[in-house]
Amino acid sequence: MKRRTITAALAAGAALAALPAWAQDTIKVGVIAPFSGPFADYGKQMQGGIKAWMASHGDRIAGRKIEVIYKDTTGPSPDIAKRLAQELVVRDKVDFLAGFGLTPEALAVAPLAQQAKKPMIVMNAATSVITTKSDYIARVSMTLPQVSAPMGDWAVKNKVNRVVTLVADYGPGIDAEKAFSERLQKNGGKVVEAIRVPLRNPEFAPFIQRIKDARPDAVFVFVPAGEQSIAFMKGYRERGLQDAGIRVIATGDLTDDHVLPTMGDATLGVITTFHYSAAHKSPANDAFLKSFAAANPGGGRPNFMAVAAYDGMNAIYQVSQKLGGRIDGDKAMAVLKGLRLDSPRGPLTIDPATRDVVQTVYVRKVENVGGQPYNVEFDQFANQKDPGK
Ligand code: PHB
Repeated sequence: MKRRTITAALAAGAALAALPAWAQDTIKVGVIAPFSGPFADYGKQMQGGIKAWMASHGDRIAGRKIEVIYKDTTGPSPDIAKRLAQELVVRDKVDFLAGFGLTPEALAVAPLAQQAKKPMIVMNAATSVITTKSDYIARVSMTLPQVSAPMGDWAVKNKVNRVVTLVADYGPGIDAEKAFSERLQKNGGKVVEAIRVPLRNPEFAPFIQRIKDARPDAVFVFVPAGEQSIAFMKGYRERGLQDAGIRVIATGDLTDDHVLPTMGDATLGVITTFHYSAAHKSPANDAFLKSFAAANPGGGRPNFMAVAAYDGMNAIYQVSQKLGGRIDGDKAMAVLKGLRLDSPRGPLTIDPATRDVVQTVYVRKVENVGGQPYNVEFDQFANQKDPGK
């Protein structure tokens, strides 16, 4: 949509809303994510995390009711995401935009958040540049450079020197490839081949053969969480990479907690760097897991997107509390800058300068715990910013 059309629609919406948004008796949160299609799990995980937060913290804050409106992008669909965001702002008069599983959808909505001065809480989309696209964006998830660069340290320290990279060919994949490769090479390692696979319906077999032919110590992988990790690990096992002694190192998207139990034994021993594991040991994580299970019967194991959504709601509650229930975009951003959250992943802060998340990145290994595979944390890099910022 053209900028002028957005402005006209926003003006019409403002005229309809005779009262300022805060005079409504509810605080509205519009959640934009895929709830159907190949990335349906992203929306469901976020919804699960939001339900878990609200089940344990109530649905009222500062005397007002919190109402969450879910919108399905069916994505990756930047155009649909933009249209839904416009509807949420103009028709539903939301106080917050939230969700955003996929980078292209977050990027499509950023100009609208800027123009409408709506705080936009990114609960997953993890390409570094996103937070620079609007002053009203705060990210509570991660960035791919943040979780990938530490793997470049871990690898060389552990004699993984010759590496093939394999990433999804779009923002987060390109970010992961760059951050990992730069850190690996700085430490004296070598990228022997860099492979990019399409975001939509990748056919992994020919790429996996190329990895095998290159005979590296390991393959470094970023693919978006979910079905693609299952497909990659299946090819890895079937094409004999494991037998050839080629290890898998990856961001935790590959072994995301929700799909890990269905991925089979080939994942055992896979090393990943990431900000959240369901196996994280802390009272905050125990409370989260309990609340997620109670609020989402049959919902399986929560993953990092559920956690980011839970934390995003925490942020929204804190902002609402501090502003006495009267949400103003600029005032909300002032509260979000520097905000500290006691997350199930460990403590995190929102960098006041970049509005991006600063957190611990853990090194984990897939191990059998009580008959189930888990990402078991065994080392950590504290206070990681997005390294590009
Ligand atoms: C993204 O599109 O930014 C994205 C999607 C899935 C992930 C990570 C990042 O696992």
